[in-house]
Amino acid sequence: MRKGNKMIERLRGFRDFYPEDQEIRRNLFRTMEETCREFGFKEVDGPSLESIELYAHKSGEEIMSQMFSFKDKGGRDITLVPEFTPTLSRMVSSRKDLVKPMKWYSIAKYWRYEEPQSGRFREFYQLNADILGSESVLADSEIVSLSAEILRKLGVGEKIKLKINSRILLDAIIDKFVNEKRREVYYILDRWNKLESNNRDDLINTQGLDKNIINAIASGRIIKEFDHKELDRLNSILDYVKSYSNVSIDVDLKIVRGLDYYTGFVFESWDKEEKFRAILGGGRYDNIIEQLGGEHTPAVGFGFGDAVIENIMKMEGLWKLEKEKSVFIVQIDTTGREYSKDVARRLRDKGINVDLNVMDRGISKQLDYAAKMGYEFSVILGENEAKKGTITVKNMSTGEQSEMSIDEIENIWKPNIN
Ligand code: HAM
Repeated sequence: MRKGNKMIERLRGFRDFYPEDQEIRRNLFRTMEETCREFGFKEVDGPSLESIELYAHKSGEEIMSQMFSFKDKGGRDITLVPEFTPTLSRMVSSRKDLVKPMKWYSIAKYWRYEEPQSGRFREFYQLNADILGSESVLADSEIVSLSAEILRKLGVGEKIKLKINSRILLDAIIDKFVNEKRREVYYILDRWNKLESNNRDDLINTQGLDKNIINAIASGRIIKEFDHKELDRLNSILDYVKSYSNVSIDVDLKIVRGLDYYTGFVFESWDKEEKFRAILGGGRYDNIIEQLGGEHTPAVGFGFGDAVIENIMKMEGLWKLEKEKSVFIVQIDTTGREYSKDVARRLRDKGINVDLNVMDRGISKQLDYAAKMGYEFSVILGENEAKKGTITVKNMSTGEQSEMSIDEIENIWKPNIN
C-alpha cells in the first residue's frame, strides 16, 4: 500500500466470500436447490428493496426494528428486504391467474440490522421454500420433510432434531390453563432454553404466572391432559415425517417463533445439543396474502439460512470442497500454448472444469500454481503432444505422468487406475 492510502474496512456484520469458502457455499445452495426441485418446487425471486409498508403489522416489531430502511430520492420509505415471506405474499396477492397450489423456492440475500454474533449476520443468504394455496396437513408434512431431506443430504441428518408446535394448540392451552396473558407466556417460552432456571422462576413471578402450569407447558406434560384437533394435526405431521426419513422430530410447545404472521403450525430445526441457534424455521401463515388484498390463500413454508448450518457443518468436518472433475493445463512451449486452446475446448465439452495457464511462466511455476490451487491433475502440453494429438496427465500428489488420448482422460477419475 502506498503511503497515505487508507484501507477501508468491511462493515460490521457483513462477510466477504473468497473462493475457498464460496465454492463450499455454492455446494450448499446446490443441495438445497436440487432437493427443492425433487420435491416439485419451482424457483422464484423478488426485489432487494421493498416499501416499508409491506412489513407493517405483518412481520412483527422485532423485524421492523431491524430493517435497513431509508428514504429514496423520491422521498419514499423503503428498506432492504429483511425476509422473503412478505414479498412472496405480495407476489401471490397481485396475480389472480396463478395455478394453485404454488410450490416456490428462492435462494437470496436478506438484511437485518441485528447484533452480529455466531450464526447471525446483518446480511445473510436464506433459502425459502413455501407451498401457497393449500391448507392441508399434507402441505405442512411435505414442507417439514423437505427441510429434513436437505439436512440429510448435507450429511447432518443424525445430528439435528426438528421441533414442531402449533400456535392454535398453544393458545387453546393458555386459554384453558392460564387465561389471557398469551403474550407473557409466549415471551417466557421463547426465552426458556436461554434462561437459567432461577431466572425463569423470577420471570414467571414477575409476569404473575403460575410456576407449575408454565413448567407443565414448557416440558410438554400438559399435552397429556389435553385433547384438541390441532394435536391430531401435529401427530399426523410427526407420522408423515417419521415414515419419510429417520430424522428425530417431536412436539415442543416452546417453539413459538418471533414472527407475528404465523397462524398455526410452526417448526424449527436445531442441532441435537443446541450449541447453536435454530438452523431453519417456518410455519403456516394463512392470512397475509388476504391482508395484502389478494384472495384467501393459506400458506406454509420455511426459511433456511447459510450461517448456522455452516457452523454445524464445520463442527462435523463437512464444510469442505466436493471433489469435481477439474484439471490445470500447463504449456511447455509455444506449440503447447497454441494447442492448449483446442484441448481446453474438448475437455470442457466433456464437462471437465479446465483452468488454463494465462501467465508468462515456466513449467515449474505453472506446476507450482496448480499444486497451490489444489488441482489433483495437470494436463501438460508441448510439441510432442500437439503433433500426436495426445495429452500428458500428471497426478499432482504422486507425481506420476502418462500420455494418453483426450478421450482416455475419463479413466483418471475411475478408481484404481491412476
Ligand atoms: P426466521 O426465523 O426469521 O424466519 O429466519 C429463518 C432462518 O433464517 C433462521 O433460522 C436462520 O437460519 C436464518 N436467519 C435469520 N436471521 C439471520 C441472520 N441475521 N443471520 C443469519 N441467518 C439468519 C423467516 O425469515 C421466515 N420468513 C421464514 C418463513 C418462510 N416462514 C414461512 N416461510
